Amino acid sequence: LHPLLRDAHGRVIRDLRISITDRCNFRCTYCMPDEGVTWKAAEELLTVDEILALARVFVGLGIEKIRLTGGEVLLRDDVVALTRALRQLPGVKDLALTTNGYRFEQYAAALAEAGLQRITISLDSLREETFHRLTRVRALDRVLRAIELAHRYRLTPVRVNCVLMRGVNDGEIEDFADFARAWDVSLRFIEYMPLDGPGEWQPTLVVPGREVRARIQARYPLIPIAGQSPSETARRYRFADGAPGEIGIIAPVTEPFCGACSRLRLTADGKLRTCLFSVVEYDLRDALRAGAGQQELAARILTAVAQKEAGHRINEPDFIPPSRTMSCIGG
Ligand code: GTP
Ligand code: 5AD
Ligand code: SF4
Repeated sequence: LHPLLRDAHGRVIRDLRISITDRCNFRCTYCMPDEGVTWKAAEELLTVDEILALARVFVGLGIEKIRLTGGEVLLRDDVVALTRALRQLPGVKDLALTTNGYRFEQYAAALAEAGLQRITISLDSLREETFHRLTRVRALDRVLRAIELAHRYRLTPVRVNCVLMRGVNDGEIEDFADFARAWDVSLRFIEYMPLDGPGEWQPTLVVPGREVRARIQARYPLIPIAGQSPSETARRYRFADGAPGEIGIIAPVTEPFCGACSRLRLTADGKLRTCLFSVVEYDLRDALRAGAGQQELAARILTAVAQKEAGHRINEPDFIPPSRTMSCIGG
């Protein structure tokens, strides 16, 4: 019987998003500044054993759902060993991973065998040129292949993340809806958040979720899926005509879902963040390396959770973006 992680706003914390690297082989404009970021040295990152030691403490406190993120998770070869070990931790009910898909072909079989349950693949454009403009690499084919493989290895329902930016890929909303149906994926349209390079994000670049919904509805009537948890990031819809696939709308800017947030984040260098937009971080790595036991680590986590922010302040006039960009926090 474990104590629940409950914050000062009455929210129960059940999800942990673990970033395992700050490195990435893409340069998505919405996630990183143009000049890139300085990678952390290898010794700064948590090892697999350290991640497991911390995960045990989190699970002891009631975490049930773990998602591995980056950076790009598949740049770490020990991701398979980590997946296997996390899957074997009693109490972990759901284990998923978010990837750009580039290196998925070489990992798909091993990850599935290690017990990975679900996968989310980022895909922001179906057009070669726009894909390149957004990610600064040419890899559309490889990402499509990754989606195919995710199906083959039954990492389903396969989720596809698409961050919309006005004037860049918002002309593709209907194409993406067709794609969701043809490829049987959960296509999640995400509002662009201020987590990129300083001064890049503008409110005018955000494509509101309600616009996406209306545009898809005009072509394919949608039906809200019943029984969704309020702590989910996406509001999900199925196609009224019974076609495969589904549409998810993730609208953190215009329809914030902070009131039901159940998430914590662990950065690749072992800091606990209680919000995507936190300005304060809580060290776990140094404590662990200094020999802290389960009790002390649990106490640190409880202290952090007690301070969890009510929500983000993107829409406030005095909003300040976090100093880490998304690639260093973990999507
Ligand atoms: P699971 O619930 O673990 O299946 O993950 P998810 O549905 O949140 O999927 P995913 O990791 O693909 O997250 C989708 C996107 O939602 C992220 O890439 C972020 O853009 C956004 N997001 C995720 N968590 C949060 C959050 O706590 N706050 C805000 N504002 N945005 C979030
Ligand atoms: N706004 C919204 N989502 C973002 N992601 C990264 N940067 C941003 C941002 N600025 C999300 C995307 C990507 C995942 C790794 O992180 O969903 O697929
Ligand atoms: Fe949770 Fe912060 Fe995201 Fe809001 S912005 S949903 S509080 S992590």
